[in-house]
Amino acid sequence: MAIVASGISLAFDIELRVIMDDVQSVRQHLLDKLKSLEEKKTILRAPELRDLYNKVKDQPEDKRAEFGQAINNLKKELEDLVGQSSDSNSVLSDIDVTAPMDINSPIPQLIPTENGTTHPITQETEKIAEIFYRMGFEVSESREIDDDYHMFTSLNFPENHPARDDYDTFITEEGLIAPAHTSTMQNRIISARKHLLEEGENIAVLAMDRVFRNEDLDARHEHTFTQHEGILVGKDITVGNLVATLKLFFTTYYEEDIEVKITPFYFPFTEPSFEFSLSCPFCSDGEDCRVCSGERWIEMLGCGMIHPNVLRMAGVDPIKYSGFAWGGGVERLVMIKHNIEDIRHFNSGKLKFLRQFK
Ligand code: DAH
Repeated sequence: MAIVASGISLAFDIELRVIMDDVQSVRQHLLDKLKSLEEKKTILRAPELRDLYNKVKDQPEDKRAEFGQAINNLKKELEDLVGQSSDSNSVLSDIDVTAPMDINSPIPQLIPTENGTTHPITQETEKIAEIFYRMGFEVSESREIDDDYHMFTSLNFPENHPARDDYDTFITEEGLIAPAHTSTMQNRIISARKHLLEEGENIAVLAMDRVFRNEDLDARHEHTFTQHEGILVGKDITVGNLVATLKLFFTTYYEEDIEVKITPFYFPFTEPSFEFSLSCPFCSDGEDCRVCSGERWIEMLGCGMIHPNVLRMAGVDPIKYSGFAWGGGVERLVMIKHNIEDIRHFNSGKLKFLRQFK
């Protein structure tokens, strides 16, 4: 190991010597040239000198400063010889604006970070990812720009079906979509891993990212928020597996023994579809509970058994395999955990809000 390391540094030293030899030979050449020049000051415009400056950017990053310094020294020497200082009308400017900053000036200190913190949503997405990772889920990201196929068609939304209106979002004239949910990843995730099913494995993936909606904004609605989307496909997967998986997640996340319930709902991409609710983890105050207003249940996310058409479009035979999926807001989870009353705080950038999560 030591031999390899010293071998590398030897190679670097040789490299630097070659670069410096370059400066030395140009220096010698220019000093000779100066002797025969009538107009001595023109030496400062010598193409050989300019070529040296142009070579700075091609040097290994850790050698640039030294190389740049050697050229500056040579230029200064020539200026002294011809009696022109660089702050008069020198042809080569003092600052090479094309050079990396360490040539012209020392690298500035990084801004102190003692007062900084990761955003609460970043902190919580990491916790959520960690819990599902331990449960055997692969964790991935969603996309923040997508197309009609992944937003609607691959999720079994018939063309012109009114269910599309529930996902009103931002669309460019070219048809690119700022996705309104992370379910856009279902087709990609399942079709890229369908070989696992033939190998007897399950597909288990969690995807998280920001989503976008055309909303009337209030304390509970934002145009930009974060979703966590879970997908599990395998043999003989049932609603029981879905409920048990989510119950384990919420119990771990809130560190409370939590009861859950599912109520029938409609999504085009699941059959059957449910709304998933939790018994309020903060309900010790009974009717005065600020989180659930005494309802005892908090509706958390949408879920269901993946629709056979969605599996088929991803290349999976719904007769052989089944699966469940869910999608829910991360802000919602965090608001409940920390008793945050307005979702708009998250994107506000208010330091007073953010510093509470240090
Ligand atoms: N995508 C739905 C939404 O944002 C939530 C959802 C429901 C996701 C059911 C799912 C699902 O994966 O199976 O409203």
